Amino acid sequence: MKRIVVLTGAGISAESGIKTFRDSDGLWENYRVEDVATFDAWLKNPDLVREFYNQRRKEILETLPNEAHKQLVRLEENFRVDVVTQNIDNLHERAGSSNVLHLHGEATKLVSQTNPEEVVTLSGWEQTKDMTDSLGKPLRPFIVWFGEAVPNIVPAAELCQRADIMIVVGTSLNVYPAAGLLGYAKSDCDKYLVDPKEPNANLKGIHFIKKKATEGVKEVVDLIIEKYA
Ligand code: APR
Repeated sequence: MKRIVVLTGAGISAESGIKTFRDSDGLWENYRVEDVATFDAWLKNPDLVREFYNQRRKEILETLPNEAHKQLVRLEENFRVDVVTQNIDNLHERAGSSNVLHLHGEATKLVSQTNPEEVVTLSGWEQTKDMTDSLGKPLRPFIVWFGEAVPNIVPAAELCQRADIMIVVGTSLNVYPAAGLLGYAKSDCDKYLVDPKEPNANLKGIHFIKKKATEGVKEVVDLIIEKYA
């Protein structure tokens, strides 16, 4: 069975109504990374950081997976598919993808500050001040902040090294180490990229489909099924 790795970024969830980070009116136009998405920010102003992720969580719970998330699930009939996502939303899971690896954490979860294994899933959108771990210390959002290690990059790179086909959807490829994952692909790996805007990356050897995710992912999925299934 051929192995497919799908690397996704904020663009795949854009048509569900979730803002991207670096497009015009993206999240980083309205917030400063250093105010809400670093460990320092959490130490200096936990209320603001909690509020920022409460808003993200609320937005996620109010949205639905779109056709792009759903089309990827079709591939599972014929291929081993691993979705490696930079997104903190759970739209791949809700669309039905079986294997989803989150590189930058998951908005719906909190984690202990002393024990990374102690992960708690929130039932609603709100993290309140009084939510603590088993030692009584405040839980933090289960997010990989800027400047922090990305533990899931190791299994992600291994998946990319073994992939026969890679599909990249909706990422500006600005943030490392995620942006370097294409570099792990075998020389004969068949690579596709779906984005309405050409990312700032070397696209040599990559089939670039300059379309929005809902349209472009269907095109790639049809193409791959026809070619390999
Ligand atoms: N379909 C597909 N792609 C789209 C769509 C769409 N409808 N709309 C926008 N895009 C593309 C943009 O052209 C851009 O290339 O999605 C990409 C979004 O880029 P970013 O906003 O930089 O998001 P991403 O690459 O996921 O960011 C990586 O940076 O701050 C962070 O941690 C955050 O995980 C995130 C990381």
